[in-house]
Amino acid sequence: MKIAFAESSTPKSGSLIVGVLDDRKLTPSAQRVDKETGGMLTRAMDGSKFKGRKDDVLTVLAPNGLAVARVILLGLGKAPALDATAWQNAGGRMVAQLNGAGETAAQVEIDRLDGAKLKPAEAAAEFAYGARLRSYRFDKYRTKEKPEQKPSLATLTVAVNKPDDAKKRFADLDKIAAAVFFTRDIVSEPANIIYPETLAERARELEELGVEVEILKPKEMKKLGMGALLGVGQGSEHAPRLLVMQWKGAPNAKDKRPIAFVGKGVTFDTGGISIKPAGGMEDMKWDMAGSGVVIGTMHALAGRKAKVNVIGIGGLVENMPGGNAQRPGDIVTSMSGQTIEVLNTDAEGRLVLADALWYCQDRFKPRFMIDLATLTGAIIVALGSEYAGMYSSDDKLAKQLVEAGEAVGEKLWRMPLHANYDKMMDSDAADVKNISGGRDAGSITAAQFLKRFTNDVPWAHLDIAGTTWSKKDAPTIPKGATSFGVRLLDRLVADHYEE
Ligand code: BES
Ligand code: MN
Ligand code: ZN
Repeated sequence: MKIAFAESSTPKSGSLIVGVLDDRKLTPSAQRVDKETGGMLTRAMDGSKFKGRKDDVLTVLAPNGLAVARVILLGLGKAPALDATAWQNAGGRMVAQLNGAGETAAQVEIDRLDGAKLKPAEAAAEFAYGARLRSYRFDKYRTKEKPEQKPSLATLTVAVNKPDDAKKRFADLDKIAAAVFFTRDIVSEPANIIYPETLAERARELEELGVEVEILKPKEMKKLGMGALLGVGQGSEHAPRLLVMQWKGAPNAKDKRPIAFVGKGVTFDTGGISIKPAGGMEDMKWDMAGSGVVIGTMHALAGRKAKVNVIGIGGLVENMPGGNAQRPGDIVTSMSGQTIEVLNTDAEGRLVLADALWYCQDRFKPRFMIDLATLTGAIIVALGSEYAGMYSSDDKLAKQLVEAGEAVGEKLWRMPLHANYDKMMDSDAADVKNISGGRDAGSITAAQFLKRFTNDVPWAHLDIAGTTWSKKDAPTIPKGATSFGVRLLDRLVADHYEE
């Protein structure tokens, strides 16, 4: 889909979209079109339930006096409530609507509105961003689709009084969208295509953006003592990798220490010998989403040349049963030196992160580390798919994360850490065990386990098991891989960690 910005005009074909505020209050462009069509918009509204509320949509086909195929009235609600997210959602919904109608070209008019938060050029850019985000589709394996089953919308023109301003703002947003798409692409791929080696190769593509990419193989990881991560991968024909990405966007910063993101990258999680039930196991192809989001975040930051030094780490491994798979009861030695009793081979994400987090702080001495992981089913029980669970050893970082999440619509709910939960992970046979043994506080005890491998570096953990994949469409997120976390972390950096 091509997105263009232009001065307001009356198009000769396709669809024309104009806004209507709450209580059927026509925006200036809607008033103009109403006049040009001899009052068709007013009559159409009178004959319908359309009130101009946010999400209301009314289509007027074959409007009198205009060459366009249809005019679409876009309900905007109340002007003061129109924030960035509202404009993005409007753009996303319109793309879905237009594709549903088989439309190929559309123009939307963005007006100056009394009491609005955003300038028209900003609103135009956000509308376009939402449209772009919703236009995503993972369809590379659909070989039999007929043209009419494919998305039809080829061009979206956003008409606004300062199109060059809008275009400039949109350029950065479009880079974030490209990063979101990159993440959605790799998370959507099945596990016969994406496994540790190939996932690391995909991350190599970021070198084009100036990201330094290193890929550690099992031999080097063994030398480093990563017994926890390697244990998870030992039952698979696909050997693990440790992905290390560096974006040095602030070489002259006063504080040169980087910030760091660490992702769980289990390319498929069968559960290992503690094997999962067959039903729904295919979902575990997206158990690498934490790493997918870290890669996407590096893509976003490098893409828009963010003035920050960032490390991105992915612990990439496939969790399979097999002749050499690790057994329940095995004791492994992690890079930190702590021994871990593996009581359940399905609690593998924490084992991967234990070594990835330790390696990260040991090598890079970051200001803080944030890990992302589809870590527990328990967080889905607690929060569903509305909020991701957040744990942090640092109140300031926690607050910044919550605020960044609110700003981009990737919401975080802070969960507790406590010494008494930590105690639940003590093992009789080793320093720590990988499950508590009961069902209580399953997401919290997993976080407590991770905390033992942070070496007291300020840290946050995002359990994204419930938010990383969606079974239904949302305004700016088609069902499937959501890329939850890319926009959030990009925003965190933009708001607090750029020079
Ligand atoms: N990858 C899963 C967590 C998960 C479950 C993500 C469902 C998305 C949807 C993780 O590796 C896992 O298996 N966790 C276990 C931990 C348990 C064995 C303590 C779980 O949550 O059941
Ligand atoms: Mn598991
Ligand atoms: Zn897992």
